[in-house]
Amino acid sequence: MKVFQNYPLLDHNTFKMKVSCRQFIELERPEEIVNLCEQNLLEQPFFILGGGSNVLFTKDFDGAIVHPVFQGIERMDEEAQSVTLRVAAGTEWETLIHYCLEHQYYGLENLTGIPGLVGSAPVQNIGAYGVEVKDCIIAVEGYHLSSGAPFRYDNADCRFGYRSSLFKTELKGQCFITHVCFRLSKEPHYTLTYKALKDELERQQLEPSLENIVQTVRAVRDSKLPDITQIGCAGSFFQNPIVPATLHESLKEQLPDLVAYPAGDMVKLAAGQLIDKAGWKGYREGDAGIYPKQALVVVNYGHARPEEIRQLYEKVISDVYNKFKVSLRPEVNII
Ligand code: EPU
Repeated sequence: MKVFQNYPLLDHNTFKMKVSCRQFIELERPEEIVNLCEQNLLEQPFFILGGGSNVLFTKDFDGAIVHPVFQGIERMDEEAQSVTLRVAAGTEWETLIHYCLEHQYYGLENLTGIPGLVGSAPVQNIGAYGVEVKDCIIAVEGYHLSSGAPFRYDNADCRFGYRSSLFKTELKGQCFITHVCFRLSKEPHYTLTYKALKDELERQQLEPSLENIVQTVRAVRDSKLPDITQIGCAGSFFQNPIVPATLHESLKEQLPDLVAYPAGDMVKLAAGQLIDKAGWKGYREGDAGIYPKQALVVVNYGHARPEEIRQLYEKVISDVYNKFKVSLRPEVNII
């Protein structure tokens, strides 16, 4: 493992906040987390950081940032129709997508273009274009930080929900994920339920194939989401709110074109649409702004300070509440 003191985090958060941490610990092997537990190093404030693409640091972090750098994709099990991959936490998500393309494994293609590391994917059950990562995960492995004991949770144990899991709720901050195991199909199997994706394939007269879906998802993403190499952001800043059916009914009178999806006996709304309807899309104050092509994304155009980002998102939350009585919640981790 490598330990750095007073380490700058600018290149470890896609929001591009100029903050630092007291200690930055790069783990080169999964078992090294057990040494950290034994040395009580995790008794100081600590945070496990993957690709830094779903976090907003609001100030310097007075503690240890633990960052996995071990990578690798192992093929564990192969059957006629499926394959099981065990992927190390420090592997780039996009590396896994490339691997699937190269070997023609089906299941994750709609999730192309999502920044970050594989170990972070189950924590918030990343999802896009009709697929959630839980659909392909069979198990998550790692260590409990309190005892250093290893764990392996099967899919059902992980309690996956919309942008949520055991690792983000009951066991928040208590686990270090080392590997994620995926079962993928070796036979063509596509999810084309998401209208914008299906429409774009049809518009370009492309037959569904892994390559065509990956290419089309990238095009749809590029048309709506900022390029994180150019503009600081953390993808969707807010979760899509899940509200009671009664609130949805009354809102429909105010907003006839309200987008809504069933969520059990509740209704999921599109936070981006509500922020857009409240008039914030494209708003900019200094270098903090709401992305002009997708109101769900809070951006740092250059040198926005954490307080400016915070002031902006708090204003958006309170204005959307005043206008629509819907409480928005950040999806990013605010540290
Ligand atoms: N909409 C607007 N104005 C906006 C943005 C959206 O009216 O500024 C409307 C759209 O027209 C659409 C609806 O709201 O009818 C939903 O928008 P979109 O399809 O773009 O998806 P989303 O709900 O805004 C979610 C995920 C994204 C993911 C897309 C595609 C969340 C919080 N976000 O966004 O995830 O890429 O669906 O599946 O669930 C991320 O997590 O970082 C992320 C980008």
